[in-house]
Parts: sequence; C-alpha cells; structure tokens
Amino acid sequence: MKFFYLLLLVVVLAACSGPGQKKSALDARVDSLLNLMTLDEKIGQLNLPSAGQFTTGAAENSDIAKKIEQGQVGGLFNIKRVAAIREMQQIAVEKSRLKIPLLFGMDVIHGYESVFPIPLGLSCSWDMELVERSARIAATEASADGINWTFSPMLDLSRDPRWGRISEGNGEDTYLSAQIAKAMVRGYQGNDLAANNTIMSCVKHFALYGAAEAGRDYNTTDMSRYRMYNEYFPPYHAAVEAGAGSFMASFNEIDGIPATANKWLLTDVLRKQWGFNGFIVSDYTGVSEMIAHGIGDLQTVSAKAVAAGLDMDMVSEGLLTTLRKSVEEGKITEQQITEACRRILKAKFQLGLLDDPYKYCNEDRAKAEVYSAAHRAEARKAATESFVLLKNDNSILPLQKKGTIAVVGPLANNRENMTGTWSVAARFSESVSVLEGLTSAVGATAKIVYARGSNLHEDAAIEERATLFGKSLNRDKRTAEEMRNEAVRIARTADVIVAVVGEGAEMTGEASSVTSLELPQTQRELLKALLQTGKPVVAVLFTGRPLVLKWEQENVPAILNVWFGGSEAGDAIADVVFGAVNPSGKLTTTFPQNVGQVPLYYAHKNTGRPLSGPWFQKFQSNYIDVSNEPVYPFGFGLSYAAFIYGDVKLSKSTMAASDKLKVTVDVTNVGKYDGAEVVQLYIRDWVGSVTRPVKELKGFKKVWIKAGETKTVAFEITTQDLSFYNYDLQWVAEPGEFSALVGGNSRDVKETKFTLQ
Ligand code: BGC
Repeated sequence: MKFFYLLLLVVVLAACSGPGQKKSALDARVDSLLNLMTLDEKIGQLNLPSAGQFTTGAAENSDIAKKIEQGQVGGLFNIKRVAAIREMQQIAVEKSRLKIPLLFGMDVIHGYESVFPIPLGLSCSWDMELVERSARIAATEASADGINWTFSPMLDLSRDPRWGRISEGNGEDTYLSAQIAKAMVRGYQGNDLAANNTIMSCVKHFALYGAAEAGRDYNTTDMSRYRMYNEYFPPYHAAVEAGAGSFMASFNEIDGIPATANKWLLTDVLRKQWGFNGFIVSDYTGVSEMIAHGIGDLQTVSAKAVAAGLDMDMVSEGLLTTLRKSVEEGKITEQQITEACRRILKAKFQLGLLDDPYKYCNEDRAKAEVYSAAHRAEARKAATESFVLLKNDNSILPLQKKGTIAVVGPLANNRENMTGTWSVAARFSESVSVLEGLTSAVGATAKIVYARGSNLHEDAAIEERATLFGKSLNRDKRTAEEMRNEAVRIARTADVIVAVVGEGAEMTGEASSVTSLELPQTQRELLKALLQTGKPVVAVLFTGRPLVLKWEQENVPAILNVWFGGSEAGDAIADVVFGAVNPSGKLTTTFPQNVGQVPLYYAHKNTGRPLSGPWFQKFQSNYIDVSNEPVYPFGFGLSYAAFIYGDVKLSKSTMAASDKLKVTVDVTNVGKYDGAEVVQLYIRDWVGSVTRPVKELKGFKKVWIKAGETKTVAFEITTQDLSFYNYDLQWVAEPGEFSALVGGNSRDVKETKFTLQ
C-alpha cells in the first residue's frame, strides 16, 4: 500500500512541476487522482451510506463492505469506535482499486461523549470562547475515536417554538447566530484541518429549514429574498467566511424547488456569491425525497441535484444508481460529476486522509481523551453558563445547604434524559441526574427527600414519543393522583421544594414538532399541589424550546431554565442552585404568552399601525385577547446579582461613512453577589429605502462585575453595523437617523440617537 501512495506522490509531483503550472499543490494532487478514475469510481465517491448497525466483525461481509470494495462509497456515517472505523477504512484502502480512504461522519452536535448543553442552551451563554471550546473538545474526542467529519453547526434561524429542531439551533437572532457560526467552525476545524485532532464541519441545513410553515418539521418554507439575505442567510454566510469545509442541503423547498436541487441556492448564492469552495452533501434521503416533493423520478431528481451543485448523496443512492445512465442519455455531463468528485477528494486531502488514512484511529488517544475528567469539567462549566434564571422572588435561590430539601418531579431522578436530543455518542446511563447532583452537593449538611410526583405526560403515547432512543423515563404505573399525593406528603416534611419538570429529551429535536407549548397538564397539576403546601417552590425546568410559561411565571416563585445541559448537568444544576455559580445565561429566543402569538420575535417590523401606549387599541396592530408582549423577551435572564445601567454615551452624534462610533455605558452591580452580565447593543435604523426592524442586535459583551463595582462597557459601531441588503439585494448603509440601544435584554434598554452622514 505504501508503494501505491509513493507512486501517487510521484505522479503528483510531476503534475506540479509542469510548465506554466499555477495550481496549488493540493489541486494538483486531486487532479492526478481524478485522472486515474473511471466514471463509476467518480460516482462512487458521491455516495454516503449510513453504516447503521455495523460493528466489528459484521462489517466484512456486509453489503456496505462490498460496495466499499467496489469503489462505490465515498464516506460512511453512524459508525463509532476506532476498531469499527479502522475495519471499514481498511476495506477502502486495501481492497478498492484506487485505495481512496473514506470520510467518517457523525452528528457530533453538542459534544461527543462529554456532552455539552444543547445548542439552544449553549447559545444562552453568549460566551463565544466557551462555544468555541465546546466544539474544540467535541472535535478532540470525536477525532480520537475515528471521526473526521461532523454534521454541525446547525445554523437554521428559527422563530417558531413549535418546530422541534429549534433546540439544535442558536435561537432567533441573526447577529448572535453568525458569531456562534464562526466560533463553532473555528472550534471544530482549528487552524489546521490536517491535524489529527480537528474535524471538518458541515454547516446545515442550507437553507431556511427553521422557517417551516406552522412549525411542522420538513414543511414548506416561503420567504422574500429580502428577508433571506438580511435575517436567515448571515449565519450560513459567516460560516463560509470562517472556512467551513462542507455544507448540507436542507429538506425543505425554497421558491418551489427543494434545496437539494436548487441551483440558485447551492451554486449562485453559496458558491458564486459567497465563494464557498467545499463540498455539499444532501440531508438523509434528501435526494430521493424529491420524488415525493413531486420533482421527478429517482433518475431525474438525482441529475437535477448534481446539476444544481450537490456533491454527495446521503443514503438515497440515487446518485450511485442513476448518474451513469444520465450521462449516457446526455442529461448530465461527466464533467459535472468530475467536479462533484473533485470537491469530495479535496476534502479528503485537506483532512490528510490520503497521507494517512488511519490518522484518526488511535485507541490510546481515544482512551485518554474521550469522556476525560478535564472535558467533563468543561461541560459542567458550560452547562452552568447556559442556564437562564427566569424568576427568583424574594431571592429564594441560591438555596442553603441545610434542613430538608424535597426534590420532586418526573425529570429529577433520570440520567438518560439529561443530554437532550442529538447526543448520539453519549453514555446516557452515566450522566449525572439532578437528584444525584443535588445529593452529592449537600453531602451530610442537608437532608434530601425525593418523590417522582408525576409522569412526564398524562398521555402515555405522547410520553413515548418524547423519550425515544434509549431516553425512557420508565413510566410509572400509578395513577396521577397517587403519585401526586405521595409527592405532597414528602414535600410537607421539607423546608423547600425543588420541582424538576419540563420536557423529555426527545420532545424537541428532529420530527418533534408540537402545537401546544404549555407544560403537560399532569406536571402543571403537580406544581399546583406542591404550591398548595405553602412551602417555597423552585422549578428546575428542562426544555428544548421556548415554552409558554405564563401560568408558571404568575404562580411559581422561582424558575431556573436548564434546557438540556449535557452529561454533567446534574452537578451543574447543583452548582447554580446552591450558589457556587451565579447564573448568567440570557434567552436567545422570545418566550410567548401563548402559541397563537407565534412567530414572536424582538426584531420585528414596526408596521403602519404599531401599538403605541397600552394594549388594547382598536385598529392598531394587536390582539383582542392577549397583548403583544412576550412572557420573557429575547436577551432576558436574571442573576443572583443585580445590575443597573447608566445612560448610553456616544463619542459623537454624527458619523461619516468611514467613522467609528464609540458607545459606552456604565453598568453597576448593586447586588450582593459577584456575577457576569451580558450587555447588549441594539441598533434602530429609523428611515430606510425598505422598512427596517424596530431593533437589531449588533454587539454584546459578557462582563464580570463584582458586587458594588461599576464597569464601563464599550462598543464600536462601524458603517458595516448599519448596513443591510436593500430591495435590489445590495449591501448598503443609508444615511439618516439611528438609535443605539443598550441594556441587559432586548426590552429594557437605554437609547441615544445619532446620524450617519
Ligand atoms: C438530519 C440531519 C442529520 C442527518 C444525519 C437527518 O435526519 O436532518 O441533521 O445530520 O440526519 O444523521
């Protein structure tokens, strides 16, 4: 085999030294390999099957192994562990004619075995270094275990909490999501994709997947280009600028053409306008699903996808089985297939797989680095930063480690539920449960009593759908009343009640859309019964989406939203509940008053009839039955400290296009605890050639402020921050009046005006 690579090197060097050769050494290597390939071998590289159930031993005789041997596979996913991956790689590099190594992909979404908070939760940290580190650690673990490609980051902006996959994204905001995009790509890919501890990122799902009609997964999207360019595209674009190696096409259609075969999207926007030069993979059976979309039969949709710019087919095998015929029938050219293959080979070269196909297969590294104590400690810290304190009447939190604490609720005593959706590599049964975290934190200083209190949902069928993939909550057979009575009896013996309620891990995530955003009735009844004991109640709330918490906000004295915090969340919850860590998370989605307000987001347009003054006003843009206000606005989150903001100061009131405007504000911690505050800068453009949002996030800083201390927080505004895509989709800043608005959430801001000349 060594001889083969030596030969390849000689061919490549010869290619590089040719007269007038301007190609990079990498391109030349790709070219020389392409020159050796038959049409079928090129088509084979475009095929990405799921390895699914294959484990060591079974692989050799499997269908997939035969396909690999015949050069019909470019990569595999859904396969874990060095031994299994090495076995597959060996088939490719020892048995296939050209010995081209495989890519090994996986959905490493929020950590590998050391699981970090779900992306929506992590986004609430507003801490870009932390986000980057989480991706770095995920890459370190995954690459040690054989993986070289992750289907992450997911950059689908979503303003619809009904959509289950809102949990996998970074919330509703364009600017914040674009910053996270860059941090994630940097974290996965590092500075050197060829290093053995970095992996290639795959930005998904391109595009607009988070805007599915009615929040129903896989549903149609339809949107103006103005909105795409200004609101939904920038995070994907930021990932291209950060050097993301690959993209995944989304399931949905855009302008009537499924993204998977949408030439405007994949080629004109992504490649030509943004300069993306990596490869594009379909989503799972995204190619064959175009038959159901009504675009044609398998041969037609496969040819359309490649002609549109798609390079790799996840699972459908439409490309594998029909492209030769399409070439023969003149429906597509061999050149188009060569280009797709070129992009995939280039990725393999960039990852260094052609130099060492086993570079990611190192059992010693896997043993030392996967799920290491150091990584788990980082995951625990990240979890504490993702929690959002929504309410804390009379400073109930932090709790003291004394007396008797009743821990009650269907999610309190379960490890499997902690990591949340898309945690495929997790060791579910080893996660720290809330009960375990709280118990080990108090040690002998307080007594913890426990009761389950209720099932997750009154409807067993819904509960089952919310606890799939090994995340069962082991439904209790007792009646709701029996469980509740037991909980009340136990709670009465305690000084304080911690109610651990909310969603099951698979209540959000793929194909987990809902039409009700309220806590299940049985859990609401439990909370009512606990409140009736007269003891102080702290709700620790698990969720993967913004919920409707109107009743909870009105009735429960303290609410700590913990999302799905990952493998270490149980300890992290204890850190925050007992005050070892002061919570600092801020919401990255708006929490509505009811599902009828959806989509509800802070960066909305003003309309011609905005509600100014109190609700209700006839013939203004509002509802008869509920105000326009959310329960919790974007950017909101409390702390054990208390921060007050001084006036917003500007370095000047008029700026020229080339100027930089400095914005400063004094923030004082008037509380008793030291803590971190996320200071947020919003901009309003008062008059435009097209209508502009009432405010848009344009900067944020997370600052640590000691009790009693004042810090001056500074931002810089450039013309870039004032620019947008106009009606003709040109990036412009239009002169006129602007506001700079600064505060600790999107609602409570201080404002100053300035003019752009
Ligand atoms: C999801 C993707 C995921 C892929 C591979 C699909 O169902 O939409 O996000 O990367 O499966 O597991």
